[in-house]
Formats: sequence, structure tokens, C-alpha cells
Amino acid sequence: MRRILVATFGALALVGCSQYQGEMQSASAPQSDAEASVSAMSEGEQQITDLLAAMSLENKVAQLIQPQINSFTAEDMRRYRFGSYLNGGNGGPYGDEFAPASEWLKLADEMWDASTVPLANGEPAIPTMWGTDAVHGHTNVMRATIFPHNIGLGATRDADLVRRIGNATATEIEVTGIDWNFSPTVAVARDDRWGRTYESYSEDPEIVAPLGAALIEGQQGKLGSADYLGRGRVVATAKHFFGDGGTDQGVDQGDVNGDLDELKSVHVVPYPAAISAGVETIMASFNSINGEKMHGSKALLTGVLREELGFEGMVVGDWNAHGQIDGCTVSDCPQALLAGLDIYMVPDDWKELHANIVAQVQDGTIPLARLNEAVARVLRVKQNAGLLGPNAVKPSARPNAGQYELLGSASHRAIAREAVAKSQVILKNDGVLPLKAGASILVAGSAADSIEQAAGGWTLTWQGGDELTNDYFPGATSIWSGLNNAAMEAGGSATLSEDGSYQTRPDVAIVVFGEQPYAEFVGDKKTLVLEDEEGLELLRKFEAEGVPTVALFLSGRPLWMNREINAADAFVASWLPGSEGAGIADVLFGKREATGRLSFSWPDDCGGAPLNGPDGALFAVGAGRSSSDASPLARLDENCGYLTEAKSDTWYDLGRLSSGIVASAGGTNLANLRGEAGGIVARGFDYQRQEDAREITFGPGATLTLAQDDEGEGDYRILYNLQAQPAGKVTLTVGETAIDITSQLRLSAGKGWREMVVTEDCAPMLGNSISISSDAPMTIGIAKIARQDMPEGAQCSF
Ligand code: BGC
Ligand code: BGC
Repeated sequence: MRRILVATFGALALVGCSQYQGEMQSASAPQSDAEASVSAMSEGEQQITDLLAAMSLENKVAQLIQPQINSFTAEDMRRYRFGSYLNGGNGGPYGDEFAPASEWLKLADEMWDASTVPLANGEPAIPTMWGTDAVHGHTNVMRATIFPHNIGLGATRDADLVRRIGNATATEIEVTGIDWNFSPTVAVARDDRWGRTYESYSEDPEIVAPLGAALIEGQQGKLGSADYLGRGRVVATAKHFFGDGGTDQGVDQGDVNGDLDELKSVHVVPYPAAISAGVETIMASFNSINGEKMHGSKALLTGVLREELGFEGMVVGDWNAHGQIDGCTVSDCPQALLAGLDIYMVPDDWKELHANIVAQVQDGTIPLARLNEAVARVLRVKQNAGLLGPNAVKPSARPNAGQYELLGSASHRAIAREAVAKSQVILKNDGVLPLKAGASILVAGSAADSIEQAAGGWTLTWQGGDELTNDYFPGATSIWSGLNNAAMEAGGSATLSEDGSYQTRPDVAIVVFGEQPYAEFVGDKKTLVLEDEEGLELLRKFEAEGVPTVALFLSGRPLWMNREINAADAFVASWLPGSEGAGIADVLFGKREATGRLSFSWPDDCGGAPLNGPDGALFAVGAGRSSSDASPLARLDENCGYLTEAKSDTWYDLGRLSSGIVASAGGTNLANLRGEAGGIVARGFDYQRQEDAREITFGPGATLTLAQDDEGEGDYRILYNLQAQPAGKVTLTVGETAIDITSQLRLSAGKGWREMVVTEDCAPMLGNSISISSDAPMTIGIAKIARQDMPEGAQCSF
């Protein structure tokens, strides 16, 4: 079916081209005699042509606009008829990220209903489509199965497993009425400092390509088969085209430099495989190539993707990424559509963008043919997904919808457990593995019983973590409980002791440690040092006490681990396993052979210079031991020039509250400076990047406090933005000093982002906490808080 559509598409595209260069048509009129004259058109293509001819300009443009659920209502949907919408990583139905699955389905129905209310003049009402980031299972939704992140799946090399994961994920997505998944990421991560390395299957494109294709097939079904986009299937997306994993120094959304053919030979390789698997949509990448932003590059989005690779599906933009093109803003950017983007992901500024595109088609900035071409591509995806025509039904009436027992079902969890086991890579084993039946085991480290840490970013929230206790993961098994069950089954015993203390000396200690959750640019690093030394200290303590150890390292990438590897008797790269921690015990106890092999080169040096090959690697791609391989590993060099670098004194930056800094209001913690407490509402919003700032709303008399655990030093610098003058008195308390800053804030209101500097000049002694109190309601934006010494004698300024 789909292939037939494709055959006639060539003709339509040609027609499009002539219009592109030629006459401008009056914008709202039903158009295209030329289109109508295309003969021998398939039924499907005829339907698209008919729809296009009957749609108003406004509703065509709306097909290209994708807002997020936190920023529009069903009423807006009814008025604008957006072609699609998304939930961001921090979005949930009706403002609740932790809403039960039934609320997700309810919202899907509401939006569908709003999009299909009949229009005047018999204009067709086109059903909308919901896109989500189910990048390691349907993990925006509670109870979903959480699969290992892609880096772990890369270590399995098991395309059949990945296909089953795709199918299970699609089924769980369907339960909640969602149509479309922004997954797989087929990035080829070439610099482990990149915060999205874990979304990449491998540094080797030949490993990425088949796994990406398998995830697509698992989600969409096999192209041409009867169940293609049928039951248990959703529309997939290959992302981010292209070069996301190749940015200079691993900076997220950064620039990729080099000879274009060489870059293509690495970063484009997964796309032909994805396209052959039938991927319906491809997401354009935030990055630029040799200085040109992908979203604005016709040569790459149209030249390479369409003309060279033959992609005929739809191209969706990334989160406000079009706004980064030179000369664009998020609400005004014809450049992206002209370059070849079909859908703008415009979470919040959809209204202005819609108005601007309508005007730009009317004044000829955007040729009508280009608009029609993009709309046709959106409609084709909907057609393939069964959303057009008489058989289309609302989300709750579709297969699997509302079958909540499928979320985190036993069979899906079994697939995840298999994936966890197959992704474990044993890098050192002096003979302590496999664990002996009957052994008494001590399980140490604060990560051992932390499902949020095992799950990583893109789990319930965008960044993951943030004090998501295990109660947020009903039905999941932590690494500790998997080990505990396995120890008991094997006739031994296990004890959880986070700090590693014990009364009776254990036969073996398992130390679970690693990176805290992060997503996207928040995870970018400058070096490959793991600053958190909890694991290292535990391993060294046990080494000194003569207790043999197994180190389980949870991470989104290889890091410099020479010290930990030296201190441990066995070292296992466990990646970010997700909700089925028992898969780890399966391997450690030898119930499953250890088959995981590195899909990334492991560094021997802490600096972070990219490896991408065996040269300079401690372990090369393909490394990994079977459980019985106990050959010795020579002692590793523990020198690292970056260990002594000054620790950062940042309190809050890039959407992240630093560890050791506590935000609170009315005595209640505001994890990561977000949430509601004591009359304060703190929510994420964009300063320069997604959710890198906080909008803090004070109720009357509310106080926000930030405090540092340890003794800190330095003056305070706060980047803030006040739109309106405060209506009452505002007090800043720094340490013990209360300063009335009402008049200063009156002056800075409406002046954009400003820096507040507090030195000993107005706050003698400074101290380790700051509070802001407001007598009257007030809203303030905060993008950065840091302690840093200003020059001697510097005065306070606001
Ligand atoms: C993510 C979204 C997330 C948002 C935060 C984006 O980069 O992909 O899903 O919610 O930033 O505003
Ligand atoms: C990310 C994408 C994601 C999108 C929607 C972006 O920030 O780069 O991978 O699909 O947000 O959440």
C-alpha cells in the first residue's frame, strides 16, 4: 500500500516544483488544477489531493504546527486544529506529570474530539496526532516498563531483542491513546562528554544502523505486512538528522565540523537502514554542520535527505530548534519550511508562529506549493497510521487502548529483564564472578536501591532523578531487590547497607554507584571524571578490609574508571538498566552467560578526547568477558590532571540545582528548584535553552530559601528577570543580613535579564544561605545562581 503511494508521489512533487518557481495562487482558495490533472493517481493519493483542495490556508498551516500539552487547551485545538501536538519530557495531562494512564487517554480523546468537530463549509476536519518521547519504554507514564537506554542495547547487538522492545513500547503507548513516538535516536555518539551519549547505541555506525532499524520495525511493524501500523504499532521517528553525535567537544546542539562526505560516512549511515525499514518520520537535529544550523539547511534537509537518501516521509523539527537559525525566532521562521522542514515543534509560541506562516504564504515568502507539499506529507503519515477516512476512531476506541494491565505487563518486563542481562559488560573479573551459591552478600552504595538512578534521564520527568523515590515505580525491581531475591534463591543471603557498614563480615560486597540522572545538554561534561567518589571510597574501604568486591557502574557513557577498576575485584558496566534490576543478578549469579560487549571504546585517560577506535582505549569496542573468564588485569595508571581542578561554585545553572544545594519554601524541599511549597510555585521555563530557568511565583508572605550544605565562599551572583514591579515589600536575606530590595526591584522590572550581585559590602559575613521573601504576590525568573569572588571592594548591585 505504502509503496504504491510513493510511486505516485513523484508526480505530485513535480507539480509542486513548477508551482514553486512559478505563479503564486491566492492563498485560501482551493487550488491546484495541476494536481487534479495527475492521472492514474492511487486512491490514497487521491484522498490527499482532495483533502488539500478542500482545506483553508489557516488549517493547512495548522497541520505544520506542533504545540505541547502544557501550553494549549482543547479549546485552542478546536479553534486552530493543530495537525499534531506533543507532551514534553516535563509535560503530563492537565499539568500532572505523574497522572495515571487513564488521564493520558482522556486527554488524547479530548484532543481528538476537538480536532474533529465539523468545520464550516464542509471543510474536512483532520484528526490530530499525539507525539511523545518513549525513548526507553513509555517512560513518561507511571507503571510503564522502563527498558535500558540505547547504550545498553548497543552492548547486546541483538536486533531481535530491540525489535521486541519496540513492539512492547508501541503497545504501551497505544494503551494511553498516543499515536507517534519520537524514537529511535540513531545518533552515532563520537564524544562521550556529550550529555546524550546514552541515547546512542554505539560510536560505530554499523552497530547503530541495524538496531535503529529494528526499533522502527518493532514499533511500526514490518513494511508491507498486514499489521503495518496496526494493533500494537505506532508511528516511529529516526532522530536527529544528522550529526547530533558529532558535535565539537560533545557540546549538545553544537557545531559539527569537517569534510561533509566524511561526516556523512559516520553520521548518516543509520538513515538508509531506517528509511528501508519504513520510518514514517525523521526529526531534524539541533546541531549545525560547518556553521549552518540543520533546521535551516536546504542542502542537507532536502538535498541529502530527500534527493540522495530518497526519504519520502515527513520531517519534524526539534523543540524550538528552528529559532536557532540565523535570522529566525521561535515564532517567525519561514527559513525552516523553505529548507525542507514539514512540522515545526513549537511548544509554546504556536499562536504567533501560525499567524506568521499564514501571512508569509499570503505574501509569497513561502510558496503555496511548499506548504502543500509539507501538509501532504503530514496527511500521508496520518493515512498510513489509519487516522484518515471512515475507519478512523478516537484513541480510546483503538486496539489496546485503556488496557492498563499492559503497562508494565509481566511479558514486557520479561523482555526488559532479558535486555538488562544481555547489556551487562564484565570488564574485570579476578574470579569473584559468578557469585557463589550460598554466599553472604553485602550490597552497598546509594544507587543500589535507587530505581531513578538506574533509569536515568527521560524517566517520568525530562531529566529523571529529582528525588523520584521507588514509590514512583510500582512494579519495578531495583538492583538491590533483584540481588536479594537471587541470593535467597541460591540459598545465601544479602544485606543492603548503603554506607558499606556491617556487623558480620560478608563473603563479597557489591558496590553500586555511578552518574546521577540527566538529559540532553544538562549532561554535557568537560572531562570523563566521575566527580562523585562514593563508589571509589566504598571500593577502597572494602579493599582495605579484605572483602572481595564487584563494582556495578551505572552510567550513560564510559567514564574514566581506572581508580575504581583497580580497587575492585570485578567491574561491570551496567549502563542505565531501567526498571528490571533483576537482570543484573541473572548475570552475576551465572544464571545467564555474560554476553554483553562494549559498543563504545572505554577510555584510559580522564581528559575526554574522543577515541572511536582501539587507539588509546583501555578496552576496545567488542570488549567484555564471559562470566568464567578470570584472567588477570594489570594495574591501571591512576593519574589524572583534572582531579585537582577547582570545584564549581555554581548553585543553579542550566536547569540544574547543584548537588549540596537545597531549595525550600515553608520548610518543604523544592527538588531541583521546582514544584509547589509554602506559597511558592516554581516551574521550568526557557531562558536560552529548554527549561534552563525557573519562573518563581510568590504568594503573599512566601519565602524561597536556597542553602548550601557545606561551608561555601564567594560573593553571590544571581541572574534574574522581573517583568512587573513588585506590589509589596521584597526582602533578600543573605546569611544573617536582611536587605530590603523593594526599590531596587522596582527599577529593574521590565528591563529583561539582569544580574544581582551581593558582596560583603551590603551583607557582611555573606553566609551559606539566601532567601527572598515577598509581602505581596510576585513573579520572578531565575536563570543562574553562583558564588564567585568579585574584585576587592565590589559593591552590591541589583
Ligand atoms: C525536552 C522536552 C522537555 C523540555 C523541557 C526539551 O528539550 O525534549 O521534552 O520537556 O526540553 O522544557
Ligand atoms: C529533544 C528531542 C525530543 C524533543 C521533544 C528535544 O529537546 O532533542 O529528542 O524528541 O525535545 O521532547
